[in-house]
Amino acid sequence: MRFTLLASLLLGAAQAVVVPSHPGPFSVAMRVKALTDHGRTDPFNGTTKRQVLLSVFVPILDNIKCSQDVVSYMPPATAASYGPLAESAGLPGALFSTFQLEFCKPPQQNESCRASKKRGPRFPLVFFSPGLGESRLLYSVTAKSIAAQGYVVVTVDHPYDAEVIEFPDGSVVRRNWTTGMEQQLTEFRAADISFALTKLGQLTQNGGPLFRDLPTTHIDLTRVIAMGHSLGGAAAALAVRQDRRIHGGIDLDGRLFSPVLESGLNTNSKKTNQPFMLLGREKHADEDATWNQFWRVLSSGTGGSGGKGAMVAVKGTSHFSFADLPPLIQALGLPDEVKGQVEAMLGVVDGARMQRILAEVSASFFEWAFEGSYGRFEEAVGGFAEVVVRNSSFSAV
Ligand SMILES: *[C@@H]1O[C@H](CO)[C@@H](O)[C@H](O)[C@H]1NC(C)=O
Ligand SMILES: *[C@@H]1O[C@H](CO)[C@@H](O)[C@H](O)[C@H]1NC(C)=O
Ligand SMILES: *[C@@H]1O[C@H](CO)[C@@H](O)[C@H](O)[C@H]1NC(C)=O
Ligand SMILES: *[C@@H]1O[C@H](CO)[C@@H](O)[C@H](O)[C@H]1NC(C)=O
Repeated sequence: MRFTLLASLLLGAAQAVVVPSHPGPFSVAMRVKALTDHGRTDPFNGTTKRQVLLSVFVPILDNIKCSQDVVSYMPPATAASYGPLAESAGLPGALFSTFQLEFCKPPQQNESCRASKKRGPRFPLVFFSPGLGESRLLYSVTAKSIAAQGYVVVTVDHPYDAEVIEFPDGSVVRRNWTTGMEQQLTEFRAADISFALTKLGQLTQNGGPLFRDLPTTHIDLTRVIAMGHSLGGAAAALAVRQDRRIHGGIDLDGRLFSPVLESGLNTNSKKTNQPFMLLGREKHADEDATWNQFWRVLSSGTGGSGGKGAMVAVKGTSHFSFADLPPLIQALGLPDEVKGQVEAMLGVVDGARMQRILAEVSASFFEWAFEGSYGRFEEAVGGFAEVVVRNSSFSAV
């Protein structure tokens, strides 16, 4: 590529690049947590118990003085697994190891301080499942942008599905699926999400804090969302269908699979009332028949959701606009000519704009799911010229 040399020169090998997210009313702290499901053998392994690895993005109230906590975007093996993607766009293979994120580092918590504030704020809980083979870390900027609106956002790594997962104890689990397993993978993922929900609920029961080293924060288990990108969106739909504790879901540009495709969010025994949003590239529904099929089931009322939902297009986007690639590319500060070529090759759009759309449209959808506030959703979507509601149940309010 002609601009490879230029791009490489611009990106000194060890130069760190801090990637901004969309700001909101809250600062955000982040903690990594590994959880083991003692009730489930890993379907890929056969001998070990299923584990999940989570990044938990926690909103921090603005009366708390944060110092800066700068964290690598990805640990080494995960960053290396994205080398070929960077090189495909003429960028250095080490690119993903140079990105960093800034989080809030709150003052140290002590027991007497904690005891005086037993009743911390309660935030809704949002699970985010990545695209097929992708790391949860490829969605950290998006998760932080949503958390800053006042949500505890949990990105989930699904072992043997992601190309590589690096656990805090140093163990590494690599991809072990083949094409054709997608529907099965959505089942494993939905089970992972339900397990993480159960476990986070247990950890915080009786008013316990989410993390002992963070200001007292509670998750509101009466307000839970599942969302995801690509296969993660299909997993979110299945999680909503299977788990009544989840109050709504969002699929970001992902094809859907059985059984939600044929019978929506209802199971035989339960009628559900959980709104669902399909948010994707402009021509998604024209290129992927599963969207219209799912929408017909959903909106007929037979597919659950009480017929509530929306199919929304974001003009000028492609599949990877719904991962962190737009803000990552923007943070490089490439000259326009090079930036344009990189964006065209990776199929992404303006990073700051896309983060704002993802944060604000998602948050307004959550309000719809939790409180039935359609107006707020309509208003948020209406604020973006490139965001178009193709189908919605507004009229059925
Ligand atoms: C299952 O997990 C154990 C412990 O991590 C590992 O030693 C073993 O190689 C794994 N087996 C497979 C088939 O991946
Ligand atoms: C604990 O925190 C409180 C304020 O939250 C502070 O006044 C007190 O000095 C702290 N105690 C210790 C031992 O650090
Ligand atoms: C999955 O793991 C098994 C056992 O380690 C290995 O033989 C197989 O090649 C792996 N398959 C894929 C698709 O990675
Ligand atoms: C959804 O919207 C498209 C236009 O974007 C329209 O052609 C289609 O009929 C709508 N589907 C339903 C079920 O309303």
